[in-house]
Amino acid sequence: MGSDGAAKAAIRRKVTVVGAGMVGGAVAQALALRNYADIVLVDIVEGLPQGKALDLMQAGPVLGYDTRLTGTNDYTETAASDLVVITSGIARKPGMSRDDLLRTNLQIVRSVTEQVVEQSPDAVLIVVSNPLDAMCHVAFDTANLPRERVIGMAGVLDSARFRTFIAMELGVSVADVQAMVLGGHGDTMVPLSRFSTVAGIPIPELIPGARIREIETRTAGGGAEIVSLLKTGSAYFAPGASVVQMVDAILLDTGRVLPCSVLLQGEYGLNGLYVGVPVKLGAGGIQEIVQLNLSDEEATALRGSAAAVQELVDSMANMAMADASGGY
Ligand SMILES: NC(=O)c1ccc[n+]([C@@H]2O[C@H](COP(=O)([O-])OP(=O)(O)OC[C@H]3O[C@@H](n4cnc5c(N)ncnc54)[C@H](O)[C@@H]3O)[C@@H](O)[C@H]2O)c1
Repeated sequence: MGSDGAAKAAIRRKVTVVGAGMVGGAVAQALALRNYADIVLVDIVEGLPQGKALDLMQAGPVLGYDTRLTGTNDYTETAASDLVVITSGIARKPGMSRDDLLRTNLQIVRSVTEQVVEQSPDAVLIVVSNPLDAMCHVAFDTANLPRERVIGMAGVLDSARFRTFIAMELGVSVADVQAMVLGGHGDTMVPLSRFSTVAGIPIPELIPGARIREIETRTAGGGAEIVSLLKTGSAYFAPGASVVQMVDAILLDTGRVLPCSVLLQGEYGLNGLYVGVPVKLGAGGIQEIVQLNLSDEEATALRGSAAAVQELVDSMANMAMADASGGY
């Protein structure tokens, strides 16, 4: 029995989750249940990651997982992670401008990225912090890793919301619904009805066009709908589960094709911009960017969504110029 621990440590994967808030906790919970990776939760607040890790460990005997969870405020404990999920950030507070939020979160994501990459230079990074596509740029610029290893989570969540609403509309199992959402993570996202199906049948053959528009609008406002219901805080169960679907695809090398925010370098006619498109995920992160044959209308909507991301990137560049340190 004594040697089992060492043998297990050699084969189990290691995932760090930075930010032990609502989304970080949900990621850790969903991943713990998968039972193939040990998890390190990191937060700036003392006691929070330690408390969540211990609580989740104590769910193990009941739910039947052996996942080792560690909570820490010290990045050395994250060393040699295979994958790092970045959920740290603050929510917009009353009186805070969009630029104030952007500046605060980019400073948090930059500092976190520096520290995780120093400890785990071979890790794949999944960025979750908002504004998502802009934070992917910050992580990518800071990490100095190939684009294949700095990936944003948004499309899996947005398409899960779209799938849910389609299944609710038709009264069918979500298992039979596939859906695709492209673009930036915001109200300019592009739900693609033509590429969304129930048992292989495109939804325009099943749902009247006007109703599809309503479902698309609800999908694009999916995050805001939850915020308005919760009053404090934002969604975390579905975001956590969505991150874990990406973690599975990468660490179990499944080759799943999922919409993710990736740095486009000419694909979809976009260059140097993080935008959500379908990618094949497997060992090492992005293995392929899948090019869909978009109609003129869909391509225009994607360009519009990319322009909204570009605006945020420009705002960050302006902040960098105004900042005497020369950084963001
Ligand atoms: N991409 C998506 O689809 C998606 C979905 C949901 C939420 N989000 C975003 O994820 C982020 C987290 O949301 P949440 O609901 O968990 O928020 P939360 O406030 O519950 O948790 C954020 C955590 O980050 C920690 N933190 C702040 N600064 C830090 C630092 N420098 N180092 C380490 N930890 C730090 C905080 O202490 C807090 O525990 C937000 O930016 C949110 O907008 C994105």
